[in-house]
Amino acid sequence: MRLSALFPMACAIVAFVLSMLCLFAGHKPGFMEEYHIVTLNTSTLGHNLIPTTTTSSGSTPTATSIGSFFSSIAHNISSTIEGDLDGIIGDVADKLAKELGIKQWYSLHLMDMCEGTYAPNATEKGASLNVSTCSNQTAMYHFDISKQLNQELEVGPLKINLSDIDWPSDIQSGLNDLNVALDATFVLYAIGIAAAGCAILASLVAVFLHGSRLISFGNWGLASLSFFALLIASIIVTVVQSKATHIINKYGNEIGVYAYKGGKYLTLTWVAVALMFLATMAWVVEFCVGRRNKTREYTEKPQRTRWGKPRASDEAAFRRAGV
Ligand SMILES: *[C@@H]1O[C@H](CO)[C@@H](O)[C@H](O)[C@H]1NC(C)=O
Ligand SMILES: *[C@@H]1O[C@H](CO)[C@@H](O)[C@H](O)[C@H]1NC(C)=O
Ligand SMILES: *[C@@H]1O[C@H](CO)[C@@H](O)[C@H](O)[C@H]1NC(C)=O
Ligand SMILES: *[C@@H]1O[C@H](CO)[C@@H](O)[C@H](O)[C@H]1NC(C)=O
Ligand SMILES: *[C@@H]1O[C@H](CO)[C@@H](O)[C@H](O)[C@H]1NC(C)=O
Ligand SMILES: *[C@@H]1O[C@H](CO)[C@@H](O)[C@H](O)[C@H]1NC(C)=O
Repeated sequence: MRLSALFPMACAIVAFVLSMLCLFAGHKPGFMEEYHIVTLNTSTLGHNLIPTTTTSSGSTPTATSIGSFFSSIAHNISSTIEGDLDGIIGDVADKLAKELGIKQWYSLHLMDMCEGTYAPNATEKGASLNVSTCSNQTAMYHFDISKQLNQELEVGPLKINLSDIDWPSDIQSGLNDLNVALDATFVLYAIGIAAAGCAILASLVAVFLHGSRLISFGNWGLASLSFFALLIASIIVTVVQSKATHIINKYGNEIGVYAYKGGKYLTLTWVAVALMFLATMAWVVEFCVGRRNKTREYTEKPQRTRWGKPRASDEAAFRRAGV
């Protein structure tokens, strides 16, 4: 039994579970929804349609027929949301999404997208996420928020589409550029998880088979493969998250879309990386200690034969003395 191998094994087990959770967080409604990569707050999306709250600079260059179409929509929206221009603002955040037929938030996970409403209401600070549905999960998910919003707007009460609310195409084209990176992340997580799983089995072998350096070396190899895969995946996710929020906030804030980074996801993935790093380091130590023991054994062996006789005679002396 080599109990020191239990430490890297424990690290690998926890890292394995955490990186599995990174993959599967949010794969069905209500399962670790807070561990999203990015959330979009769409509770005020389309506030520019309401004449009383806008600067009305957005829709002026369009033709007059489209202009009257807009004001007609605007009238319909403002007639259904009671209250006056100043009093309305608090309610717009909570009611506008429903008027348009969309959800108040959309969140990106590694394998799908979820959507829903804010729990007491959208303006409440620290409101919780009430999930309605999630898309079907797929291995390399491509986040298409424009398509989703467009579909929901078209079947919504106002029967409008994205171009009616001045949705900037830069948002989706910016997000599309990040898809390749997210595909790579998926593959890297898969490699990291598989290597961590093998590392768990290999450290089990190391616990029961006595300290062979080959086993330590193999364990070190698996742990470092898992560590590097998870490290690169985490770096990519961190960069993608920050780019996506930047793009969405840059083009979307004007029409009332806000993006937030998912801090809990980052914690999850970086803790997995840190644990795999500890496991790797532990195997380096095991390997070095194993080598020192081995050299000591070699130098001790001839000594033992030389000292064998005196020791035996000592024992005999003790036995004679009745100890
Ligand atoms: C606004 O509402 C009126 C009646 O409620 C309806 O006839 C009209 O088509 C609506 N306009 C739009 C753009 O939905
Ligand atoms: C969550 O949303 C559903 C409808 O989608 C609603 O019936 C339920 O009351 C909401 N839960 C909370 C806590 O707001
Ligand atoms: C949101 O909910 C909180 C707590 O339930 C309440 O105090 C607040 O007035 C609500 N805001 C709106 C705009 O309904
Ligand atoms: C959503 O965005 C609106 C508009 O910026 C903001 O007032 C509201 O507090 C946000 N809601 C949440 C839960 O972050
Ligand atoms: C999700 O999967 C179900 C069956 O598993 C299918 O009926 C449904 O159409 C799928 N939805 C989408 C959006 O692909
Ligand atoms: C939105 O609808 C208008 C007609 O109502 C159509 O001309 C336009 O192509 C549609 N845009 C999208 C993105 O579907």
